[in-house]
This record gives sequence, C-alpha cells and structure tokens, in this order.
Amino acid sequence: MNTNETIGSILKRRSVRVYKPDQVDLDALELILEAGRYAPSAMNQQPWHFTVIRNRALLDKLDASCKTVFLESDVDALREVARRDDFSVFYHAPILIVVTGDPNALAPQYDCALAMQNMMLAAASMDIGSCWMHSVMMLHATEKGRVVFRELGIVFPEGYNPYSAAVFGYSAAPLPEPEPRKSDSVTIID
Ligand SMILES: Cc1cc2nc3c(=O)[nH]c(=O)nc-3n(C[C@H](O)[C@H](O)[C@H](O)COP(=O)(O)O)c2cc1C
Repeated sequence: MNTNETIGSILKRRSVRVYKPDQVDLDALELILEAGRYAPSAMNQQPWHFTVIRNRALLDKLDASCKTVFLESDVDALREVARRDDFSVFYHAPILIVVTGDPNALAPQYDCALAMQNMMLAAASMDIGSCWMHSVMMLHATEKGRVVFRELGIVFPEGYNPYSAAVFGYSAAPLPEPEPRKSDSVTIID
C-alpha cells in the first residue's frame, strides 16, 4: 500500500497505558499544542482552551479523585479495574491536557475532540504516547467534582467545560498490537 508519514502516524497511534516518569520536553509539547490549535472548528470559532498539567503532586491528587468516579460508577468493568490497589487512572503519565470549551459555541464537543485527536496524532508522530481520559469529564460533570477542580486550583476559563482530556508521555513498554477494527463499518455508495 502506498503510504506516507501522516498515515504512518495514524496507524501507529495506540492508547498507551504504561508510562515512563520522564517529562516531555517543552519544544515537543509546544508542537503538540500547535497541532491542537490547528484543528478545524465549527465556523472557525476555536471555542477552546488548553490546560496542561505537569505537576506530579497535582496529577496524583486529580488521579485519586478520578479513581473515585470509577469506583462510584454504575459500570461494573470500571469499578472492577479501579479496585486494584496498583491502578492509576492516569497510568502515572507526566502530562494531562484538558481541552475545555465554551458550551455556547456551535459544536464545542466536536471542536475539542478534534483538537485532542490532532494532539494525539502529533504526539504519535514524535513517538510520544497518549490516552484519552474520560474520567476527567465524568468528574467535572458533578457538582462535587467541580469543587475538587476548584480546591486543587485547576481553574478553567469562566463557564468553559472539559470536552476532551488525555495523558501524554513516553511509553514504558513496547506499543501494544492494534485493537482489532470492525471490518463491516464502511459503506461506499458509487
Ligand atoms: C471517548 C473515549 C473515552 C475513552 N476513555 C478512556 C479512559 O478513560 N481510559 C483509558 O484507558 N482509555 C480510554 N479510551 C481509549 C480507548 O479505550 C481506546 O481508544 C480503544 O480501546 C482503541 O484502542 P487504541 O486507542 O489503542 O486504538 C477512550 C477513548 C475514547 C475515544
């Protein structure tokens, strides 16, 4: 198959769930964020804000609160995984990026998800792993959770909500094989 570097990065991206403690240098982080800012957005509103958390102690505190969300979830699999003593929601990754958006924009969920996908692909192109962190949105969706963010000093632009969040860092293990993809998910109408 004829391929190129972009297709190569798309195909090699994996959700990474084991991280080295090493920090990603600022030049690479800037490129990742630039890729996020270059995502398309409805009516070019760019209704987003990128919050980057690199403070280890803060990440650990937020991780503990997100773990509570899993433990209190009505999804059996989430409760089960979070009960493991060694489970870290953020997999000890050194960076969490939260993309918050203006809920009054035209399509903030799509805009923020596209920004995150751009960032995950940019990271993959530099051999930096990533994994979407849904518990961040779940935590912020509750009043109790919003208090946690405030108490930790994680302040988003006024009125903005988190629509996408992911951890980034260097994988501490060889990348896993790709999850199997459904083969019957395409219809081409000529
Ligand atoms: C909306 C969304 C929520 C996700 N939430 C989590 C999560 O909270 N924790 C996690 O480890 N992976 C999470 N993932 C990653 C998926 O499990 C992963 O993308 C999927 O298994 C396919 O694997 P791949 O990313 O390696 O291709 C999430 C992905 C998406 C798109």
